[in-house]
Amino acid sequence: MRKLTVAIDGPAGAGKSSVAKVLANRVHYLYIDTGAMYRAFTWAVLEKGIDLSDEKAVRDLVDTIDIRLEPQADLCRVYVGSTEVTEAIRTQRVSSHVSAVAALAVVREKLVKLQQAMAQGGGVILDGRDIGTVVLPQADLKIFLTASVDSRARRRYLEVQAKGGSETYEDIAASIAARDDMDSHRAVSPLKKADDAIVVDNSDLDLEQTADVILGLMKERG
Ligand code: DC
Repeated sequence: MRKLTVAIDGPAGAGKSSVAKVLANRVHYLYIDTGAMYRAFTWAVLEKGIDLSDEKAVRDLVDTIDIRLEPQADLCRVYVGSTEVTEAIRTQRVSSHVSAVAALAVVREKLVKLQQAMAQGGGVILDGRDIGTVVLPQADLKIFLTASVDSRARRRYLEVQAKGGSETYEDIAASIAARDDMDSHRAVSPLKKADDAIVVDNSDLDLEQTADVILGLMKERG
């Protein structure tokens, strides 16, 4: 199979990164987690105490920040300079600020360029919100992975329960719906299905079944 460029976009909680990892492992592709890059930038903003309305401070950080992804078999390590932030970018604090940071055009411009450079040469799977529309409009295969709010909230609720968390199903469903709304209605690169993307609704599919569907489509394209 020829080395494809695969774009997976879709709302939060649809399982994009889980399925991208499974696929990358199966076909020995590089998995590029673009959400992790927005999270890493957000981590740096919080670490430096930068006020998002301070355009100069944000621009200075954009100009100097060094974000690196080191894809490994089952996870993508993330660094800001020499500091590993793989776990730090998953905290609630980063999660609750990342949508506002990802809405800044100056930040997107920089991260999109980095993502395009990383995707050169193919054999890559990128997941995000704007991969098929902005980052790789020429991708060989574009998937729009989605699932109902109810099934995304149910999956997340089970994960939270397994970790002994106390969030209720209603809280989780409300937060997923709020993030959908924010990511879909921002002015710059809103979450939007590319015209030539294939919709995969995995409300009734598990991870392996979702990967099988996408792998079938990759084989058709390859
Ligand atoms: O996929 P995630 O939850 O790690 O993404 C974190 C945030 O970054 C989310 O609010 C959407 C945003 N994002 C984006 O705007 N563009 C991307 N290509 C990837 C993520």
